[in-house]
Amino acid sequence: MKIELKNAASFLDAQAIANFEAPVMAAQRALDDGTCQGNDYVGWLHLPSSITPEFINEVNHTAQVLRENCDAVVVAGIGGSYLGAKAVISALDDNFSWLKHSDCPRILFAGNNISEDYLTELIDYLHDVRFGVINISKSGTTTETAITFRLLKKMCEEERGKVLAQKVIVAVTDAKKGAARTTADKEGYKSFVIPDNVGGRFSVLTPVGLLPIAVAGYDIAELVRGAQDMEKQCGVDVPFAENPCAQYAACRNALYQSGKKIEILVNYQPKLHFMSEWWKQLYGESEGKDGKGIFPASVDFSTDLHSMGQWIQDGERTIFETVISVDQPNSSLTVPSDDENLDGLNYLAGKHIDEVNHKAEEGTRMAHIEGGVPNLRITIPKLDAYNLGQLIYFFEKGCGISGQLIGVNPFNQPGVEFYKKNMFHLLEKPGY
Ligand code: PA5
Repeated sequence: MKIELKNAASFLDAQAIANFEAPVMAAQRALDDGTCQGNDYVGWLHLPSSITPEFINEVNHTAQVLRENCDAVVVAGIGGSYLGAKAVISALDDNFSWLKHSDCPRILFAGNNISEDYLTELIDYLHDVRFGVINISKSGTTTETAITFRLLKKMCEEERGKVLAQKVIVAVTDAKKGAARTTADKEGYKSFVIPDNVGGRFSVLTPVGLLPIAVAGYDIAELVRGAQDMEKQCGVDVPFAENPCAQYAACRNALYQSGKKIEILVNYQPKLHFMSEWWKQLYGESEGKDGKGIFPASVDFSTDLHSMGQWIQDGERTIFETVISVDQPNSSLTVPSDDENLDGLNYLAGKHIDEVNHKAEEGTRMAHIEGGVPNLRITIPKLDAYNLGQLIYFFEKGCGISGQLIGVNPFNQPGVEFYKKNMFHLLEKPGY
């Protein structure tokens, strides 16, 4: 993975990024020695290097049980208990996986909304499907997930029988507290623990993400290996100029201080759409507090060049963009030659589709820079589990540093409670 800042640095004073060296290094040390704000929640920092092959085997073993007994597995979870798995599975899956045969169960996501239509349609689909459930909730009490799990548990027991349901329902939750833990213990479900010191949005490398990804058939050992390598590359001992997370955190904060209030994460691969959704939660929930924070937005290019391109090129100049660029596709396809050339496309004949995509990226970068949009570029060699692991840890560590530079506690989310209190009051929940 490489990070390129020159097209962002050119918008800043010569020393603007370098001036962040001391605060970034201090933020890194505060994470490492546990003196930062929110220090109860820095368990993600050395999580990759603490994952053992035995633990990977345990997760893979449970995934195998689900694969053998299910044609579909519903992952019930929301926010950090959903987006990481969704991001990685979407990035690794065939774009048309739902239309094609697979030896692995279809992974469905629910518990991330309160839509009656969504749940009805899910239940309709699951009739006559051999399904299982992974119930993921750190608190174990999140309403969206709890309603969904209540429905699915009942249906699974009715349709598959209590004994088989016990085998194909797995819980990922707190070690001791919450309704998900109580239910798992009472029913005898296989369960995994979300460590106390790892917050939801930093939990993709715990069983929250690893189990669904393994059920989907992807190599979680490789994902973890990528994260472990990035943990080393971004270590507190790595010099500022060579540390990609430090550089990212410094650059985006220098831009923020210069009036760039919105960061747009850009991809040129539809498979990365949910990586951006995961990233938005990570940065939005970590930094947006106390009246501060870079607003995280995202676009899928070239698709959104035909909808948001105008605004980005020419709207209010408060934005910068961070592009995730994938060097090589996993497939090979060229533009065919056509004798009649009615569409005038023969100038592209023989070129790889990916070459056209990269030229679109280059042309867009040039246009946006000219239009006043600073451009950071993150390049990964290809979309695979190893590189996604790198990317995940890179963004997590960048976020842990960056939130401190902004001057907030990056590991809490007090604002999320406000809607819940009102909703519970309106629903007449006891105590509200
Ligand atoms: O990052 C977070 O902490 C949140 O987004 C949570 O992951 C989300 O609210 C779901 O919470 P829980 O896992 O307790 O159901």
